[in-house]
Amino acid sequence: MGFPAVRMRRLRSSSALRSLVRETDLRVDDLIYPLFVVEGTGVKHPIPSMPGVYHYSLDLLEDELQEAYDAGIRAVLLFGVPDHKDSVGSSAYDEQGIVQRAARMIKEHFPDLLVIADTCLCQYTDHGHCGIVAPAADGRSAVIDNDRSLELLAQTAVSQAKAGADIIAPSNMMDGFVQAIRAALDREGYTHVPIMSYSVKYASAFYGPFRDAAHSAPQFGDRKTYQMDPANLREALREADADVQEGTDFLMVKPALAYLDVLRELRERHQLPLVAYNVSAEYSMVKAAAMQGWLDERQIVLEMLLGMKRAGADLIITYHAKDAAKWLREEA
Ligand code: PBG
Repeated sequence: MGFPAVRMRRLRSSSALRSLVRETDLRVDDLIYPLFVVEGTGVKHPIPSMPGVYHYSLDLLEDELQEAYDAGIRAVLLFGVPDHKDSVGSSAYDEQGIVQRAARMIKEHFPDLLVIADTCLCQYTDHGHCGIVAPAADGRSAVIDNDRSLELLAQTAVSQAKAGADIIAPSNMMDGFVQAIRAALDREGYTHVPIMSYSVKYASAFYGPFRDAAHSAPQFGDRKTYQMDPANLREALREADADVQEGTDFLMVKPALAYLDVLRELRERHQLPLVAYNVSAEYSMVKAAAMQGWLDERQIVLEMLLGMKRAGADLIITYHAKDAAKWLREEA
């Protein structure tokens, strides 16, 4: 009678043994918590397509930050949802803009909480595109004017750094945005402020709930002329290489779940800290099923986030951050 030559179960026989041989871990320090900030006071407005996520005015943002801070979160990503939109997204680079005011407030009340500012124009433009729209040569359709957009994005990044943002996170996918933003930050004396580029950002249906939350759906056309085709991996490597050359301090892959192979490839080729963005629809799918009682939210979320780490991510931007931080603390 033959016996198994290899007994994998030997190292799985107790919780202590399993811990001893565990290869990947998820820590609260890995998590970045995205928040939507709005004008006004007394606003904590639920976003229907993202249960548990809210628009906060600055006064009520403070309570939410305190709760996140107490759970161990030390990094937040700010998205502004401004009252005023126009064709050039002017409230994106206004010193009194909502993100600028939020950054000042946070640095005053939570000095050791890292403020990461999303740098894009889509929430701020009336047409909802991430850059400036110009008439196309045919006189009928419209195109995004890459290089004019870069000037406004650089201006936005500088105003965010001036307001106290610790990290600039450009998500606009214009060509050359890292270089343009790095040059502008350096010129204005912010050489110490890192750039967390959304290096590999796909044109994804997984951003649907976010666009409801941020009021940033494009009013015409789509984002396929600047965000990447989900079918492409080699192109993702070129995007990442370009951002490294232009001086980014972090690389990012977005979305995360359907793109874990891309994370793995970047991990193997680059030395920079690598960020996975667990985007809005990835969050909403879990929430919707959990609300039906169809799955165990806590186990599912921790397993997904761990999977992103195993695929190669160092950091994860996730709407589950506050919950995950609490669960991790309970497990410790
Ligand atoms: C802005 C931006 C988007 C997201 C982050 N920054 C939306 C988009 O590109 O349409 C999506 C985040 C999410 O879905 O959670 N450009």
